Amino acid sequence: MSRSSFQQFYWHSQQFGCASNDIDCFYQQLQQQLQGLAMVKKTLGEIAAYPLDLYQPAEPQADKPSILISAGFHGEEAAGPWGMLRFLSQLDPEVFSKINLSVLPLVNPTGFKAGHRFNQFGENPNRGFKLQEGRAVISDESSVEGKLLIAQQDLLKTLSQDGILTCHEDVLQHSCYVYSFEPEQAAGAFSIGLRDSLAKYFTVAADQTIDGWSLNKGLIHNHYDSSFESCLVQLGAKRGACSETPALEDFDQRINANCAVMQQFLAFCLNQN
Ligand code: NI
Repeated sequence: MSRSSFQQFYWHSQQFGCASNDIDCFYQQLQQQLQGLAMVKKTLGEIAAYPLDLYQPAEPQADKPSILISAGFHGEEAAGPWGMLRFLSQLDPEVFSKINLSVLPLVNPTGFKAGHRFNQFGENPNRGFKLQEGRAVISDESSVEGKLLIAQQDLLKTLSQDGILTCHEDVLQHSCYVYSFEPEQAAGAFSIGLRDSLAKYFTVAADQTIDGWSLNKGLIHNHYDSSFESCLVQLGAKRGACSETPALEDFDQRINANCAVMQQFLAFCLNQN
């Protein structure tokens, strides 16, 4: 089976009281959750009528670690951005005295609104982050969102130097797994901790081949493609991960799991320093 680029998916969230693709409701609740958090918005560009917004700490601490969490690259993988809302609503504002946390809550707004994987131009926003001589470069595969992110690679590299987490879903699955990147050849505490945080909500996917890559105990480890997360690791992020929640399962449960994996990522990165 392969994932369809334009098949539309919708769910209803009980906890947010709206449909998974209700982008106006999403942005409205995002503004509410950001109140009280010392973060500043930087609009990286626009896709159709929607902004690609990055939120950075208002007062970054030069001696503290810097991590980035992103969601919403694939439009039908809606529990990522909604999980980000839940994560922000539960975030202790004091955390910004210990770590520089930046977020990209919704990278592909046109896909999110339509409830389909690709953006409205038929591009895959999580491909086309190729490296050449240590720099990310635009290629034929790059999307409009990707081009905006690549243009900000120096900033994004700084913001993710101690870790990058990106939250995806798999519409073909009933169980969860994680793509992980660590300097060691074998998956360590970072990867296992993220997988186990999802395992509190879903069964871990059985060993199998996914998109040609072997999944082992719920982890696809150190597999470099031209995705955003693998690009940031190649640019120097100390660790990276892409979480995959199962979109054949309950939507609110997936939102809660996305929140939990973000909390685990933050806690791990805090404890490393
Ligand atoms: Ni995805």
